[in-house]
Amino acid sequence: MSYLKLSSLKKTYPNGVTAVKDLDLEIEKGEFVVLLGPSGCGKTTTLRMLAGLEEVTEGSIILDGKDITRLPPRQRNISMIFQSYAVWPHMTVAENIAYPLRLRKMDKKGIASKVQEVARICNIADYLDRYPAQLSGGQRQRVAVARALAVNSKLSLMDEPLSNLDAKLRVSVRTFLKEIHRNTGATTIFVTHDQAEAMALADRIVVMNEGRIEQVGSTREIYSECGSLFTAQFMGTPPANIQRVALASTRGRLVAAAKDAGAALDLGDQSAFPAIGRLTGGEVFLAVRPENIGIVEPNGINETSIEIVEPQGAYTILVSHVLGSEWKIMLEGDVDIRIGQKVSLKIDPAKVMLYDVQTTKRISLS
Ligand SMILES: Nc1ncnc2c1ncn2[C@@H]1O[C@H](COP(=O)(O)OP(=O)(O)OP(=O)(O)O)[C@@H](O)[C@H]1O
Ligand SMILES: [Mg+2]
Repeated sequence: MSYLKLSSLKKTYPNGVTAVKDLDLEIEKGEFVVLLGPSGCGKTTTLRMLAGLEEVTEGSIILDGKDITRLPPRQRNISMIFQSYAVWPHMTVAENIAYPLRLRKMDKKGIASKVQEVARICNIADYLDRYPAQLSGGQRQRVAVARALAVNSKLSLMDEPLSNLDAKLRVSVRTFLKEIHRNTGATTIFVTHDQAEAMALADRIVVMNEGRIEQVGSTREIYSECGSLFTAQFMGTPPANIQRVALASTRGRLVAAAKDAGAALDLGDQSAFPAIGRLTGGEVFLAVRPENIGIVEPNGINETSIEIVEPQGAYTILVSHVLGSEWKIMLEGDVDIRIGQKVSLKIDPAKVMLYDVQTTKRISLS
């Protein structure tokens, strides 16, 4: 049996908005799970139900073998870190960390040594006598983490804890959180709408959309084997190029044609697509990640011209018209290419993703 089990969890707010619809999720002890999804998809609502801050409309929450669905927050032994710095401004760093321990009636000596221990782990031991206003944003968020760590809770919930930090600090606190997790093994559910953050931190990512789970998987699965069109559109910077196409087999090649554009794209030798018989004739959504497209000298196949060149240092993004739409191509390094230059596009057939036009679910190519 899993450590945390959410079964058919549902939340309808008093105003009639159903923010979470039928959520099923199992989490193992020690996992770092990230809930990822666009604004309003129900991430915070899910966390608040777990913490007991929001009543569950239907379904159940089992934590470590115990049904906690209706327990008040204090009896759940769950810690929560919010987006805003959830530290008390009128208490010093040491008092902030000690406060939940005092509530739990820990003795003075125990509290003092626990404060020292977590302050050392979180690298704030030098600031124990300061007030939050005398700390930087990143230091304040580390205090919040230290306070959560000190109580040894069964489950650690974090709702966009990095979103108030500037870009550079976000990355360093992110690395810090990952180290903390490696050292403590605390079961953690972390909420973000930032996919880079999700991919960097997660053992498993849960992609949410409109109150439902779209896909659960490792970073690699979520990114390279998107189970639905939604995930393919959501993941990646820039995201996958997506187009509704008809598939045909022409002289041993698999070709995608866009109806209105009168344009076609060669996807590669049809031997790369064992399911070819099932695929041709009908319409599908084609998704190709920008980094899975290469360019070669014009050779008569997929010829196009480059319209925009965006150097990014480590990589270069090119924009070109493919199948009547603007597609993005991502090449490693600083590429020497002119605007207007003619090239041939080479798609990696093993990385092509196809989706059913009705269900928008992934179609297996093998
Ligand atoms: N107290 C409330 N009463 C009514 N509706 C609410 C309440 N809180 C949230 N909602 C609605 O429930 C839906 C989910 O909100 P939630 O805060 O869980 O989203 P989220 O995924 O955390 O979004 P964000 O990334 O913007 O924080 C939204 O449509 C929101 O407007
Ligand atoms: Mg939220």
